Amino acid sequence: MQPAAKPRILSGIQPSGILHLGNYFGAIAQHLELQHAHPGECLYFIADYHALTTLRDADALRANVQDVARTYLALGLDPQKATLFRQSDVPEVTELTWLLSTVTGVGLLERAHSYKDKVANNIRPSVGLFTYPILMAADIVLYRSTHVPVGKDQLQHIEMAQDMVTHFNQAFCPDAPVLQRPEPRLSKYPYVPGIDGRKMSKSYGNTITLFLSGKKLRKRVGQIVTDSTEFGQPLPLKTCTVYKFLELFYTPKELEDIAEYYRTGRRDGEPFGYGHAKKLLIERMTSHFADARVRYEQLVKAPEEVENVLREGAVRARKLARATIADCKRACGLL
Ligand code: ADP
Ligand code: TRP
Repeated sequence: MQPAAKPRILSGIQPSGILHLGNYFGAIAQHLELQHAHPGECLYFIADYHALTTLRDADALRANVQDVARTYLALGLDPQKATLFRQSDVPEVTELTWLLSTVTGVGLLERAHSYKDKVANNIRPSVGLFTYPILMAADIVLYRSTHVPVGKDQLQHIEMAQDMVTHFNQAFCPDAPVLQRPEPRLSKYPYVPGIDGRKMSKSYGNTITLFLSGKKLRKRVGQIVTDSTEFGQPLPLKTCTVYKFLELFYTPKELEDIAEYYRTGRRDGEPFGYGHAKKLLIERMTSHFADARVRYEQLVKAPEEVENVLREGAVRARKLARATIADCKRACGLL
């Protein structure tokens, strides 16, 4: 194995809708942190090839790609430290997908939870949906990534990528392996619930998007499902979805007080109910994303600035990709 000299961090996010709190706390927040810890070694891409497995609207796809890029930049991605690019700007990834597919068993793909879930939800699977994990493995190994920061739902895909690396190296280059084994990296909040208590996901329609504010935010937070505990009675802490959201935003010290309101059903002698808890969430979420929201609005008016970042990112990413593809092809006997 040729260990990468330094950690190389890589992650992808699908442009299948507007980004939400699950994406932020599960993935994006640690992407942004890592750019400071490993400047020059972080690659984040917008997985537009992946999105084609579910999105069949060219204008919507283009708009979503811009939106994801804008959101990352608004939240603080620094293009001097991290490379942000569009997956399809590095078409070598599809070539590597083919090479990996020749060493990947059908049985491995059949075990993928996300594939099985989609089939169980009556989505007629395309070959692309079935081989999605191979494209994802290619994304990872093409850049010789060592760490892949993601939410919990992606762990199985990374394990599959590890298997593909092993199979490829064993099949084609056992004495001088060319592919690097990646490790997953979970954030502090690897699982964020949606407003209905299931996993927050664009595909479940249960998200709270990042830059909601004012009336729209109040309306959305109002829709978070709670139980029928009577106003002023103790509220269940462990099962409360609103509390799970509060945990994302408030410090442990602040949460001690909030937990006490829940346990007693009172705050400063007055009854405390879900409406109050939701208000705490709205206040903190509004202030947490205030600066990013302003920057986001500025970027809406500067699409060429966003496009330039993606274009420059692709140039850097493609250079790395070409080197790996050449090594892989040589190992297989294609060069
Ligand atoms: P979605 O399920 O909304 O389509 P993606 O699959 O595009 O989201 O996920 C992008 C990143 O955000 C991945 O790293 C994923 O693990 C993370 N993520 C998505 N939803 C959640 C969630 N509810 N909790 C934690 N992380 C999540
Ligand atoms: N499958 C990931 C998701 O839906 C997105 C993704 C594609 C990805 N390729 C990747 C994540 C490579 C990490 C590494 O969230």
